[in-house]
Order: sequence, then structure tokens, then C-alpha cells
Amino acid sequence: MNATELCQRLKIDFPVFAFSHCRDVVVEVTNAGGLGVLGSIKMSPEELDAELSWIDERVGGKPYGVDLIVPGVMQGKEQTPTAEQVLAQLPEAHKAFAESILASHSIDGSAVDDETRKGSLYFSNNARLSGADQLLDIVFRHPVALIANALGVPPAEMVERGKQNDVLVAALVGTAAQAVRQAEAGVDLIIAAGGEAGGHCGEIGTMVLVPEVCAALQAYPNTTVLAAGGIVTGRQMAAAMCMGAAGVWCGSVWLTTEEAETPPMVKEKMLAARSIDTIRSRSRTGRFSRQLRSAWTDAWETAGAPTPLPMPLQTALVTPYLNLVDKLASGGNAAAQELSTYYVGQGVGLMGKPLSTRATMQAMREDFLGAWERLSGFLGNES
Ligand SMILES: Cc1cc2nc3c(=O)[nH]c(=O)nc-3n(C[C@H](O)[C@H](O)[C@H](O)COP(=O)(O)O)c2cc1C
Repeated sequence: MNATELCQRLKIDFPVFAFSHCRDVVVEVTNAGGLGVLGSIKMSPEELDAELSWIDERVGGKPYGVDLIVPGVMQGKEQTPTAEQVLAQLPEAHKAFAESILASHSIDGSAVDDETRKGSLYFSNNARLSGADQLLDIVFRHPVALIANALGVPPAEMVERGKQNDVLVAALVGTAAQAVRQAEAGVDLIIAAGGEAGGHCGEIGTMVLVPEVCAALQAYPNTTVLAAGGIVTGRQMAAAMCMGAAGVWCGSVWLTTEEAETPPMVKEKMLAARSIDTIRSRSRTGRFSRQLRSAWTDAWETAGAPTPLPMPLQTALVTPYLNLVDKLASGGNAAAQELSTYYVGQGVGLMGKPLSTRATMQAMREDFLGAWERLSGFLGNES
């Protein structure tokens, strides 16, 4: 589908797809003519049901989507271990290292015990097939227009249920070869996410990846490409669409909006950050993800740091410590503020002003039009 066909199919008028863990952002983007996509990885099925009902009540039938993370390959993906079995796999040396980072900032990490850890097993539950199935059961009880998957080809059942329910299936990729695998699996919307992206990302920059993916998918006319990674302005969106994308998928740009879920102190850090202030690190989930560089991420890059655990264990390990850091940082603890971090892409350097989500959408539209005029003007001068 080209941009116009995609907009017609989804009944949107500006092809901005907004990935967010925050329901308010999803509603605001959808009501502003784009398509909000709610990240569900942190939610129990009951929480997801409540969030989607909340969204349903506010979008008046306009389209929105839900995003899952079911890695194509992950140890134990087919299993359903108990919380105790997962916690037993966290090595004492890793816990001691995480505590030592906090201790070096005068924070007592020993407050993190197994009871606390049990409250942070969302990734371990939802990234497994059994957990994802439960989330999908909820998703298809709501009038969703799109379901997306990160970190590999979605489970066959997800693709089939999408087709049965006339719901577009999307997936993120970081290489052209991955895009072809998604197309072969029947995925409709392929999100080419460059290495600038916040969250999990590959190494290839958006400027190269988007045309590569578009070229590789020419043999798959039923697929549509969205561009992601570093896109926070309308001019970047225009550039991505000039390269063949039918629209853009953005995550970072919403994090400094008034509605975002980002802790206020992290939001301030993001507003002050430059594009160089992010790092692509395995320390958060065991796979490379881009986040705000901080004393916490630096500690994981030191020579003595342990190798991050495989997915999903690293998230189970670090989440309770990072939650403690965020809590203290929000309460004004300066050392905790040095440690605090969150996923964000290199586009953070372009996000200097806190705007509402609506105003961000409007700014993107105006900037997009400006880019279009600049290009048309150039052609006019040539003739
Ligand atoms: C805070 C944050 C959390 C993210 N979590 C997920 C996620 O749960 N699932 C997913 O598919 N992508 C996730 N991503 C990646 C986005 O889907 C998207 O690829 C990325 O944000 C695009 O690049 P940008 O951040 O430069 O806009 C996340 C991104 C951010 C910034």
C-alpha cells in the first residue's frame, strides 16, 4: 500500500504511528488523525483489558493498535515457568553487581528482595508464547486496527488471528533480510527501525535501512513499509516517505509530551539531552536497546561488568533496581538522578520543548508541509 491507500485502509489522515506505553498518548494521536499503538509488554491481561476499554471510550471508533514483544528466538519461549523458577536463574554475582552500582551512589539496593522481584516479571511472562496468547485474547475483544510485534517474526497464530479479524499485522525489523522473513510469514506492515531508534534496534541507520527494506520488499506487493528510528519532525517524516516509506512509526518523540508516562525527572533529562547522550546497550534487556546514557548504563560498560543475562532474565534482574532508582530520583535524590535512565533514541537531541501530544502532531504536520514546499520550490527553480 502507498501512503494514501494506507490512510484510506486505516481511516487516518496523516500516517504517523505512535508507539507508546501511555494510553493518553495513544488516544491523543488517534484523535489527531494518526494511529496510536499501545505497548502492552508491561501489562497483565486484566490491566490491558482495562486500558483498551479506557481507550475505546475516548476514540469514538477511530483506529488504534496494540504492540507485543514475542521474540522470534528466546530461550524458554515455549515454557511457562513459575516466578520462583525464573528468580532461581538470576545469578548472585549479577545481583551483587547491580547492588554495587547503587551502593556507589549511596543507595541501599539490598531492599530489593525476591518479593520485589516477583513484581517485575512482566517481561518474562509476556514475551513467552503462553503470556502473549493471553494478551492476544484480550486484544481481539476490542476493536483494534493493528497488532505489532517486536524482535522477530510474530507467532503464526498472531498473524492468522490478525487476518481472521481483518486487523493489520505489523513487525519491526533492523535489516532487509529480516524484512523478507516477515513478508514470507504474512506480515502486512513492516517497520524498518534504524539504529537511531529508542528501545531495541539494530546497527543500520534509518537513512540506509528504509530504502534497503523498500527495495527488498518490491517482490512482496502485499507489504507496506513504515520508517522508524530518530524521526521526531515532519521534515524527517517527509524524507522517510521520499525514500519509499508509506508513513512513520515514532516512539521517542512522545516521551517528553505532557501526557507521557515518563517520570518527570527523566523527562527533564531528555529535554536537556543531546543526540550523543544515548547509548545502545545490552544492559537493560540482554539485547541491544537504545536508552539515555547515565551512570547506570556507564557502569555496565566498565571492564569488570558481568555479561548481561539472556532475554528475558536481564529485564527481571535490573527492573526492580531501576524502579528503586526512579522512585528516589523523583523524590529529589541527586545520586539516583545520575543513575536514572529510560529508553530513548538519538532523536532526543531534537526534542527540546515539552509540548502536548496534539501540539506535537500539529508541529509534525506543519514541518512536513514546509519540507514539501522546499522540495517543490527547488523543482520550480530548475524548470
Ligand atoms: C520508551 C520506549 C519503549 C519502547 N518499547 C517498545 C516495545 O515495548 N515494543 C516495541 O515494539 N517497540 C518498543 N520501542 C521501540 C519503538 O517501537 C520504535 O521502534 C522506536 O521508538 C522508533 O524510534 P524512535 O524512538 O527514534 O522514534 C520502544 C521505544 C521507546 C522509546
